[in-house]
Amino acid sequence: MNVDKITVCGGGNGAQTLAPIAACNLGCAVDLYAPFGDEAGRLRSGLAAHGGLEATAHGSGSGVQAKARPRRVAADPAAVIPGSGVVMLVLPAFAHEGTLRQIVPFLDEGAWVGAMPARGGFDYCAAKVLKEQDREDVRLFGLQTLPWACRIEDYGQIVRVLGVKKMVDVASRPAAQIGEIAPLLERMLGLPIGRAANLLALTLANTGQLIHPGIMHSFSATWDGRPFGVEDVPLFYQGLSQEGAKTLAELSDDVQAIRTRLEPALDLSAVRPLFDWLLQSYGDAIADPSTLHSAFITNRAYAGLKAPVREVTADAVQRADRVRNSGQFALDFRARYLAEDVPFGLAVSRAIAKMADVQTPTIDRVIAWAGARLGKDYLGRDAGQARIPQAYGLGSLDQLLSFATETERR
Ligand code: NAI
Repeated sequence: MNVDKITVCGGGNGAQTLAPIAACNLGCAVDLYAPFGDEAGRLRSGLAAHGGLEATAHGSGSGVQAKARPRRVAADPAAVIPGSGVVMLVLPAFAHEGTLRQIVPFLDEGAWVGAMPARGGFDYCAAKVLKEQDREDVRLFGLQTLPWACRIEDYGQIVRVLGVKKMVDVASRPAAQIGEIAPLLERMLGLPIGRAANLLALTLANTGQLIHPGIMHSFSATWDGRPFGVEDVPLFYQGLSQEGAKTLAELSDDVQAIRTRLEPALDLSAVRPLFDWLLQSYGDAIADPSTLHSAFITNRAYAGLKAPVREVTADAVQRADRVRNSGQFALDFRARYLAEDVPFGLAVSRAIAKMADVQTPTIDRVIAWAGARLGKDYLGRDAGQARIPQAYGLGSLDQLLSFATETERR
């Protein structure tokens, strides 16, 4: 499959990394749809100042180097979506549904729309939006993760790519048409693309749902609540404790129990145990692959990435009577590592487990802990606010499985 143009939706780290890489690898026009806040204007200013967007490894050893000027940057979908063979949502999952509603009316017939990463339940929400807008000609895909660890250095100008995964899985709907989109993604990203049999496999294979809430949870045991100076903010991945690694392994075991229960009905081979996924994704970037713990703390692609923090004001600090200095930071338990990865991750897997009558004790424990920090009861009262299948009319295991497989032969 060849395309004349693709559109990248988003104005964050991942979108600004994908745009130049895709333009260089595919040699086609790339537009940016950036309706959030003043991002379109800021992107245009940055591009003008730097002569394009640049994704660079510089100093990180990831080997990435790409610079290109997106053809058009717009906050109006009518200006960029028409004529796009492929539209890539490179957004936190909570922005998927709103963005889909904005772009669907402008999609070409038969266009491909995908989320990178898909996170949990992308297909339920996207299928609902397509059905409501009578656009079931549109084809969907999702990637299991973002291929890069990346951070914007100068907005609209330079993104630092800290690490690159060795391969990434994709799934599509209709599943039988994966042979069309997977080779294009392989060229676009410049990486081997594995093929998952269906989007349910990607929901369960979402490793962000394990890693991010699991590590945040482990901080609750190792952090005494005292704010730290900017230099002392803990490393997120490389600071993982042995106990934290045990929690990650148990979260992964819960997902494997769901896989085992559902596997007779459909192909879930893409749902790998976390340790296997880590070794496959990062290969020789991991200096000591002997245990899950050592694989995290010696992974070069994770080097230097810090825990999410929020600044604690001097007043608040004094009131809390916890520290002697002002201008310090506290762990941010409302950051995306919980706010995205629980309602668009763990809570989705847990809802599937419930339908399948599978016990998930560690997932339940981490959801309950995260919910207390987010002010949500995702195991009870607020479950329907998560992207769970039950919230999209898939209320039984039979319905879930037939939704997952209904487009396999189309
Ligand atoms: P980011 O925080 O840099 O970008 C967020 C962008 O999403 C914003 O710039 C804006 O364009 C858009 N956005 C945010 N809130 C919105 C809203 N309410 N409505 C509409 N648009 C909104 O995110 P980043 O780093 O690009 O991550 C994208 C996805 O990739 C997330 O799911 C993240 O968890 C995942 N990911 C990111 C990695 C990284 O190294 N950056 C690594 C692995 C996964």
